[in-house]
This record gives sequence, structure tokens and C-alpha cells, in this order.
Amino acid sequence: MKKEIKIGLLGLGNIGTGTYKALELNRAHIEETLGAALQIKHILEKDVTRDRGIAIDPALFTQDPATIFDDPTIDVVIELLGGIEPATSFMVSAMKAGKHVVTANKAALAANLELLTNTAAENDVKLRYEASVGGGIPLIGAITESLNANVFSELLGILNGTTNYILSKMSDEGRAYDEVLKEAQEKGFAEADPTADVEGHDVANKLSILMSLVFGKRVLPDDIPTTGISAITKDDIAEADSQGCVIKLLASAYRTPDGQIECFVQPTWLNKTHPLAGVRNEFNALFLKGNAVDDLMFYGKGAGPFPTASAVLGDVIAIARG
Ligand code: HSE
Repeated sequence: MKKEIKIGLLGLGNIGTGTYKALELNRAHIEETLGAALQIKHILEKDVTRDRGIAIDPALFTQDPATIFDDPTIDVVIELLGGIEPATSFMVSAMKAGKHVVTANKAALAANLELLTNTAAENDVKLRYEASVGGGIPLIGAITESLNANVFSELLGILNGTTNYILSKMSDEGRAYDEVLKEAQEKGFAEADPTADVEGHDVANKLSILMSLVFGKRVLPDDIPTTGISAITKDDIAEADSQGCVIKLLASAYRTPDGQIECFVQPTWLNKTHPLAGVRNEFNALFLKGNAVDDLMFYGKGAGPFPTASAVLGDVIAIARG
């Protein structure tokens, strides 16, 4: 293994900053575990003056992505820009330049999964995206590695931290939608444009990725019937509560008896005894049914800078080991 793994970081927003901080926090542990040092050599970021609560050498910042792609010493590019473009093009350029890529970008993956995975294969580099679905929950590694022996019949999940936070706070504390959305944004759960969260598009992106991995079925996010939570009122929540239920934004995909895969994203009443009813705040959960493993449930923080950084850095470490 190389003694030093050099990283180019694309984006120093909430998740980029969290990743930088988590690396600093756990650097000694990570480097001892890995037997190699991790160095962030360049950061592509326009906003170099924002107070992020960390001291970053200004010389690390660049506004030109070619600084990273053309640097032969960079081993891994971490893409944390969000959005489909220019993130997709940047990841393709990085892989064509022989760099491994780690991304948390569910929108880019859901839109361009074939392009990105084919580019990785053609250039003999790794593309890892554990952070793209379920934040810190190690879902993708489990589905693509440990659970490979299964044929799956069903997946059901709470896959958006922002909307689950809003619904939980409205339900548990009787608070207003707008106030709680603002709080979720401040905590770094929400997308840059929270419309993607509250209208269910973020969940549709994640469900699209999961369906490719779980069922081998490619469905573009726009083809997933999707309803968000923006129309849910305090009265809706009170009515559900009076019937012993909570409202959760669920992602669902399942195999029908004739072998078709059906899917949807929609707010759903769940009895309070349902295992997903107790998943609160920014926590996510995914239920899977496989024909060998049977029922399986994953639970953990699905949004936020540090949980997401956990998955991002885990991918970097996996690549560095490989
Ligand atoms: N905005 C997303 C969420 C971030 O709230 O779940 C994690 O993908």
C-alpha cells in the first residue's frame, strides 16, 4: 500500500466540511488502521471565506477542477458538490484521469448510474457511493457484498432525514412545519434546495439507486410515482395520531406475483406498533426481504455532516486498502 493517499475534494459545503472535520477528528485512528496517511491536497470550492469552524490552508483551494484531474499524485476524488451537473461530468473526468471516485451524490447517481459505473469499469478505477443512500448506514456495502446470495422480494424504507425530522417534530412536539424545516436546514440535513427533500425527489433518487442494486431494475427517479410531505398539516398528523398511527414518508418497491417490480414514494399512515413508526428525527431505516436472509432491517442516522462523513471516509479507506 502507498504510504500516503492523496485526495482531491470537490465541494466544501455541509458534507465536505463534515468530512474534513471527521478526518481531522479520527485521523490518528484512521491512519493507524490503514497503515497509510490521508492527505487532502486540493479542494474545489468557490466560497473560500465562509467560517466553517476549521482552519484550512488557503493554498488548498482551487476554482479549477483540472488542478485535481491533471495532478498525477491524486489517488482519490471525493465528490460532494451535489446536483447532477457539473458533478457527473467531474466524476467522469476524474475517472478518465485514473482517479478513484467516492461520492454522496444520489441525484447524479440516480440520473447517470450506467455512465458512472461503466466509466469506472472502463478506466479500471473504483466508484464508491455508500453515503448516497441512508447517510451513515452501511446499506450499499451490505447489499452489494454481504447479501449477494439473495433474491429480494421487497424493500421499504424511511430514506430522508429532513422529512423524517419534520414529521417527527410535528408529531412529537406539535411544532409547525416551517419552523422545523428551518431547524433541519440549520442542522445540515436538508439539500441546498429543500424542495428536493420535502417533495420526495431526494427519496426517489435513493429508491432509484436501491432498485438497481436490490432488484437489478433500473427506474429513473422521474418514473417513480412520488408524493412529498409539503401538504401534510398538523390536522393530518393529529388525525393519524387519534387512530394510533404516525405519518411517515415511505419509499417502497416490491416484486408482484407476476414478477413485475412496483415502486412508489408517498406519505403513509403507519400503526405506532410498526417497526418503522419508531424511527424518528434524522434517523433512516430500511427493511429488506431476501429469500435466504429473510427479513432484515437497517437503522441509523440518514442525514447530517458527520454520519455522512462516516460513509464517505469508509469508502476512501476501502479504496486505499484495495
Ligand atoms: N437531504 C438528505 C436528507 C441528506 O435529509 O436525508 C441525506 O441524503
